[in-house]
Amino acid sequence: MSSSRGRAPSVQGRADGPLRAQCEVLAYQRIGNYHSLTFVAPEMAERARPGQFVSVAVKGEGTLLRRPFSIYAVSRHGPWAGTIEIVFDVVGPGTRYLSKLAKHSSVDIVGPLGRSFPMPQQAVDCLLVGGGYGAAPLLFLAQRLQQSSLRVNIVLGAATQNRLFNIIEAKRLSASSAFTTEDGSFGIHGRVTDVLERMLAGGTVGVIYACGPMPMLAAVTAIAREHRVAVQVAVEEAMACGVGVCMTCVLPVRRDRRTANLRACVEGPVFNGKTILWERLGRQPDDEVASGEEATAQGWA
Ligand SMILES: Cc1cc2nc3c(=O)[nH]c(=O)nc-3n(C[C@H](O)[C@H](O)[C@H](O)COP(=O)(O)OP(=O)(O)OC[C@H]3O[C@@H](n4cnc5c(N)ncnc54)[C@H](O)[C@@H]3O)c2cc1C
Ligand code: FES
Repeated sequence: MSSSRGRAPSVQGRADGPLRAQCEVLAYQRIGNYHSLTFVAPEMAERARPGQFVSVAVKGEGTLLRRPFSIYAVSRHGPWAGTIEIVFDVVGPGTRYLSKLAKHSSVDIVGPLGRSFPMPQQAVDCLLVGGGYGAAPLLFLAQRLQQSSLRVNIVLGAATQNRLFNIIEAKRLSASSAFTTEDGSFGIHGRVTDVLERMLAGGTVGVIYACGPMPMLAAVTAIAREHRVAVQVAVEEAMACGVGVCMTCVLPVRRDRRTANLRACVEGPVFNGKTILWERLGRQPDDEVASGEEATAQGWA
């Protein structure tokens, strides 16, 4: 058992498992349309990997449950050492509460939770595709890929320019980048999928990493399948407990020629996109044999 700053018990005993801690808010800032909070959480920062998330306790009416947020950044060295940063959009009472937290206030956080993005086993080019704040975990990943000397290409898309997350950071962390907006206010007029064909044309991309709305992830997976490129997606299924108990977050995934209903909070949120049964999302779970064609696409590609 261990806890960040020694103030609260861990929720799991594994050395790389999640912790629960009361974390001090060190900084709050606006990044375009989004809000960012930086917490002091040294042990979580040490354990966190790109694609994992934290579950934050919020207060006020309609805020019984913790709220999950992808980890955007961790600092392990320098003046910000031991901190974790999240980025969020204000959409309801929980995120509104977080947007009003004062510096030095304390927040109850559990993390890091879930499976991280797997790093490529070979020296391949990587294409990172993010929708809206879905860019946040991908920029964390981009840093790690760069540290491993892998070529990173980034495509970010959003409805409008002010919903594109951190364009400057995306440019800094990539060898090539493209931006799309649905209203044409910045970059290419259209959606991320409109530029993927071009980014994949060279044939050097070995893996796509994506995070964003489910329809975008489904479309990106379809293109990856067409081009025979591996695809890892971070899903944002609605979550209640965040630790594998309540089954709120299950989604149908093909596993060993069968359909398994996996919990996005513990077996995800990162999945091989080709194993998710996108066409069945939102339907009642059951257990049926996947088709032979689907079952062959188990691995990365
Ligand atoms: C693994 C994971 C990572 C996430 N990372 C981020 C992040 O980095 N930044 C960020 O802004 N948000 C992120 N989210 C979504 C975030 O958790 C919700 O926006 C937040 O819980 C909303 O809380 P609220 O009380 O403000 O709004 P609520 O009142 O709970 O919800 C407001 C509206 O948002 C919808 N909503 C709530 N949760 C989700 C969800 N998971 N997916 C789609 N719609 C949802 C609700 O249906 C409702 O319409 C993530 C979710 C998951 C599961
Ligand atoms: S959110 Fe409870 S099992 Fe995943």
